[in-house]
Amino acid sequence: MSERDVGHRPGWDPAAYIEKEVAAIRARVGKGKLICGLSGGVDSAVAAALVQRAVGEQLTSIFVDNGLLRKGEAAYVRETFGARLGMNLVCVDAQDRFLTRLAGITHPEEKRKIIGEEFIRVFEEEAGKLGGLDYLVQGTIFPDIMESGAGPGARLVKSHHNVGGLPENMKLKLLEPLRELYKEEVRQVGAKLGLPDELLWRHPFPGPGLAVRIIGEITKEGLSLLREADAIVVEEIKRAGLYREIWQAFAVLPGLHSVGVTEEGRTYTHTVGIRAVVSKDALSADWARLPQDLLATISSRITREVPGVNRVVYDITPKPPATIEWE
Ligand code: XMP
Repeated sequence: MSERDVGHRPGWDPAAYIEKEVAAIRARVGKGKLICGLSGGVDSAVAAALVQRAVGEQLTSIFVDNGLLRKGEAAYVRETFGARLGMNLVCVDAQDRFLTRLAGITHPEEKRKIIGEEFIRVFEEEAGKLGGLDYLVQGTIFPDIMESGAGPGARLVKSHHNVGGLPENMKLKLLEPLRELYKEEVRQVGAKLGLPDELLWRHPFPGPGLAVRIIGEITKEGLSLLREADAIVVEEIKRAGLYREIWQAFAVLPGLHSVGVTEEGRTYTHTVGIRAVVSKDALSADWARLPQDLLATISSRITREVPGVNRVVYDITPKPPATIEWE
């Protein structure tokens, strides 16, 4: 077993790593200007924080609101990275652009392609406005290199997972300060840099966002319904103290209507699916054995609090044969 297989190397010290990287980044970048795309996830956050520690104001971070994010996400990013960490942050509201391009699109891979292309366009436009950029900072970590087929012994597992990836014709030099690290080490570096625990332990969220959690066409109504249901799932799992034991937990909108009944009479509205999985690396996963009382609370809150939902189902399929996301 190589030292990388353990995910955390004995004697490895995040403070020493930060010191070494800060010096290396300063030496490499000089007075150059850098840009970084923030996704709200752990890796890009830690990469940006590390580069900010090294070169401060020379770094601008860009956050694109594509309209496919979870409830409160744009406000969360502004608060965490702008107000709390004091980063140079540009938030781009591109919701209408993405939703217009996605209108009428139902095929999962087509959705992914459109979102990927549009992201690069928005990112390039913003980079153009800043001007004079030299480097693009990316939160690539060691397992990403293995999975995208670049590293020694690499396998091609998820080449389609590169949404938010590198705009190819930007002619920027690439700076990847976490490329030697495993996830656990990235978290330790983030903690030493003062990033909040809540951020460092966030579940992964796919680049195409809620677009791959709404089966079929993406509509504003579907998005807003799914956001509310998803927020309830995450909130209740956190309240039950199970968030860190679970790899990912979220709601999906299968686009399915079924018959229900209330005191006022018959309904014919949406079904919401709940997905919660345990996993080590997302290559395989098992459905989480959530306590029945927790499932009951989630179900009753969703049907009571989210208008337009009369049925909640729990996905009890491992990966394989299912995938974690529904699309
Ligand atoms: P699946 O659904 O393939 O997901 O079992 C495995 C892991 O990858 C995430 N995922 C994506 N991430 N772009 C991303 O950035 C994508 O298109 C994408 N599709 C799936 C998924 O959330 C899970 O963590």
